[in-house]
Amino acid sequence: MEFVPDICFVASEIYPFSKTGGLADVMGILPLTLHKMGYKVSVITPLYGRISTSAYNPRLVYEDINVGYPWPGVTADVLRADFKGMPVYFLDRGEYFDRRYHYCTYKGDYFDNCERFIFFCRAAMALIKAIGKAPRIVHSHDWHAALMSPYIYYQRRTDTYWKNTSTVFTIHNLAFQGRFSVRLFWDCGLPYEAWGMEGVEFYDSFNLLKGGITYSDKITTVSPSYAEEILTPEFGCGLENVLQKRSKDLVGILNGSDYEVWDPSRDRYLAAGYSSSDLYGKQACKKELLDQLCLSEKLLYRPVLGFIGRFRSQKGIDLLTEIIPDIVRQDVGVVLLGEGDAEYEAKLMNLVEAYHGHVAGIVGYTEEMAHKIQAGTDIFLMPSRYEPCGLTQMYSLRYGTPPVATAVGGLKDTIVPYPAEHSTGFVFPEPTTKAFWNAIQNALVLYQDTESWKKMVVRGMQTDFSWTKSAREYVELYKQIGYVLDEEV
Ligand code: ADP
Ligand code: GLC
Repeated sequence: MEFVPDICFVASEIYPFSKTGGLADVMGILPLTLHKMGYKVSVITPLYGRISTSAYNPRLVYEDINVGYPWPGVTADVLRADFKGMPVYFLDRGEYFDRRYHYCTYKGDYFDNCERFIFFCRAAMALIKAIGKAPRIVHSHDWHAALMSPYIYYQRRTDTYWKNTSTVFTIHNLAFQGRFSVRLFWDCGLPYEAWGMEGVEFYDSFNLLKGGITYSDKITTVSPSYAEEILTPEFGCGLENVLQKRSKDLVGILNGSDYEVWDPSRDRYLAAGYSSSDLYGKQACKKELLDQLCLSEKLLYRPVLGFIGRFRSQKGIDLLTEIIPDIVRQDVGVVLLGEGDAEYEAKLMNLVEAYHGHVAGIVGYTEEMAHKIQAGTDIFLMPSRYEPCGLTQMYSLRYGTPPVATAVGGLKDTIVPYPAEHSTGFVFPEPTTKAFWNAIQNALVLYQDTESWKKMVVRGMQTDFSWTKSAREYVELYKQIGYVLDEEV
């Protein structure tokens, strides 16, 4: 008989198998933390074309399970990998998932994304049914997996198999809702009554994320501050009223950091290891980064600022590109890694050319470079317009690279702002170039004061964002909706 989980995660990305952003990082550690705490956990995710499963010995466990979407008789294969002792199920249907990218190409989103992720959820339902016993909790993430909750909601009415299954839905980014044409609703498998203001309809469109919000037993998001912000028109992306109606079931649980992956004392990508008690290696990491990116040697003794993230307005990349010329005038270096809007990719390339030796830009996605920048820069920039949690600032704190960030969402919840006594970084009140510039100036001034700077660096490195606390908060939430343990673990 197949392993029967009590808690089943459903998500479109999981590190190290697939990743476009922080969702993958969370999925690569939260379920595993619960597993290590003794809970029976599994994860369901798509088998993308470019996915690294080989190290985890995946094997085919179900062939041709009937999904019945988009027409009767359509099936999926299921592979299972052993991820550090926890089963990860990969749903395989080549036409949908065996593509170069997960969601989009440089031309835009795949035209059939709605169909792909309806298929994903329907296949996940079919897999859970095939396993033979339903989990107590199905915990789905973001719009790609959001339909799990309405499917289970309606199944509970008619099929006793699902009667003890409760649902949790986590919003990692409210701006990505998965909004599609009503035509795609009609054969998605939900009953007619799900179409409407109280269901998955949102201004005549089929809104998958809204389905997750409306039909889940509990809704979470990834920081306490963002949980409050999304109830307001400024951050609610149009769904603030829908969220307000569910506010008693909405909670913000702060993400953590995976210190097996993000710890400078044992990071396989770095030229030298270092820790809060021995910072010596950080300078070697800086030297390697400067050499690799052909930046001026002089910068070894001047502050270098780093940015890693999607080149989108969420991340404030426009604010940063605007002030780079002024930053560089102070004999300071800037290193950027990311990809996204073509406009910003082009702007960055122009800046690299204009300020050769002082500005380096890597357009693309490279895990190795992300680690090297965290370690090899001195100050980390995160001028986000909104930030549900943000993981890169948590990593930068651990890597002794104090962040300069906007006072929003998870940034507010993770950085103690200068000049507080125990400050770990710098926050500025609103996403404007002026406020950002001022905060950078404060950081540059403190950087000159070697002793105070070192104290801030060490405080940041010693701040503990490990997952255990947050994982316990999730367990408490699961218990509120009927999760009972056979034995307390
Ligand atoms: P978001 O999920 O909104 O992109 P987070 O800060 O939560 O932001 O997580 C981003 C994750 O993606 C981090 O692990 C970061 O290192 C990684 N990342 C972002 N852009 C790149 C890139 N261009 N190359 C490598 N890693 C990246
Ligand atoms: C999203 C958010 C980011 C968060 C991540 C993981 O991508 O933009 O703030 O850290 O999800 O929850």
